Amino acid sequence: MLTQDMVREALSQVTDPELHYDIVSLNMVRDIHIEEGMVTVDVALTVQGCPLHQKIETDVQKVVHALPGVDQVAVHLHVMNDEERRTAFARAFQKSQAERGGTSSGPHGSPMQTASQQWSPLLSENSSTIVLGIASGKGGVGKSTVTANLAIGLSRLGYRVGIMDMDIYGYSQGRMLGAHEPARANQAQKVIPWHVHNIHVVSMSMFVPENQAVVWRGPMLGKMMQQFFTDVAWPPLDYLLIDLPPGTGDVALDVAQRLPQALLVIVTTPQIVAREVAMRTADVARRAHQRILGVIENMSYVPMPEGQRLTLFGTGGGESLSRALDVPLFGQVPLESSVREGSDGGIPVILSAPDSEAAQTFMQIAQKIDAAAHA
Ligand SMILES: Nc1ncnc2c1ncn2[C@@H]1O[C@H](COP(=O)(O)OP(=O)(O)O)[C@@H](O)[C@H]1O
Ligand SMILES: [Mg+2]
Repeated sequence: MLTQDMVREALSQVTDPELHYDIVSLNMVRDIHIEEGMVTVDVALTVQGCPLHQKIETDVQKVVHALPGVDQVAVHLHVMNDEERRTAFARAFQKSQAERGGTSSGPHGSPMQTASQQWSPLLSENSSTIVLGIASGKGGVGKSTVTANLAIGLSRLGYRVGIMDMDIYGYSQGRMLGAHEPARANQAQKVIPWHVHNIHVVSMSMFVPENQAVVWRGPMLGKMMQQFFTDVAWPPLDYLLIDLPPGTGDVALDVAQRLPQALLVIVTTPQIVAREVAMRTADVARRAHQRILGVIENMSYVPMPEGQRLTLFGTGGGESLSRALDVPLFGQVPLESSVREGSDGGIPVILSAPDSEAAQTFMQIAQKIDAAAHA
């Protein structure tokens, strides 16, 4: 007599080609219906129009057909909601961590439990820390400047804030925030984040002398990133801002897959070409099912003495990007020398020149982001 358990058991041989984990563990199998020799299986895909759905469908057909007494198999495909998808990604991620870490399943529990225990509480499924990934299509648009000022802005709103400088090719948070000491470890051999301007910061420059080129590829980055989470003594945080590497490519995708819960803020300049490049970054994020919270346009205009705005880099990039992505434009940051001076001098403009137009804009953006992240 064919039972649902038998079918479920068989289905656990089918892996999601993207997440490399079986569809039962990922909670993708929603319903199993058996009527005589006819078996109907409802499968929830992680994403609408998943290009790999055909593979899943064929594999489901195959394993169920192989069961005794099955004549016909129907597969119905659905799509997960955001919450379900996040859980599925978190599970697949924990599994991959367990495998990487070589924590074999012993008598004391499954590898998944072991991994989640080792994993930083910051990343656990029920962590209340809001992770904001600050992304851009290309370098030089002010992503790091925005990250530093937003972090301080959020801390001025009363939050406990951290920055993870994951732009391993172009890390600059140390310089921007005026922190230069090499990494120090506590007794548990965890790295103590810098504590500057009331925020907690971890950056590559704690480990590598400044200006030394770092040439790393995806797998190394993954390892580093894992260490930034697991081997750092992070205090409890309300917000963790991640200064992401610019662009798309392996690195961005890797980050996206590791942090499906991160909310992305995309920084662009007003140029329409910049918008195109940023759009591709957004595409990658969407494919990895990350939520894009909104857009910040930087270097929008030079404020003139009479109050006019000199639009040095054109106009419309931020507006049109936010419209295309159907997310808010959080603000337009003017191009002001005080911003660059702040970044170069280790005291971001929001602190060094709080009355400047740029500083005020950063503060407003921090408030809007805070509202959006809690909405
Ligand atoms: N709004 C701004 N006004 C003036 N200078 C800016 C502004 N935003 C960024 N900069 C300067 O532009 C340069 C690039 O900014 P940065 O934040 O390092 O970009 P990214 O991280 O995207 O590569 C830095 O020298 C920074 O000080
Ligand atoms: Mg940068």
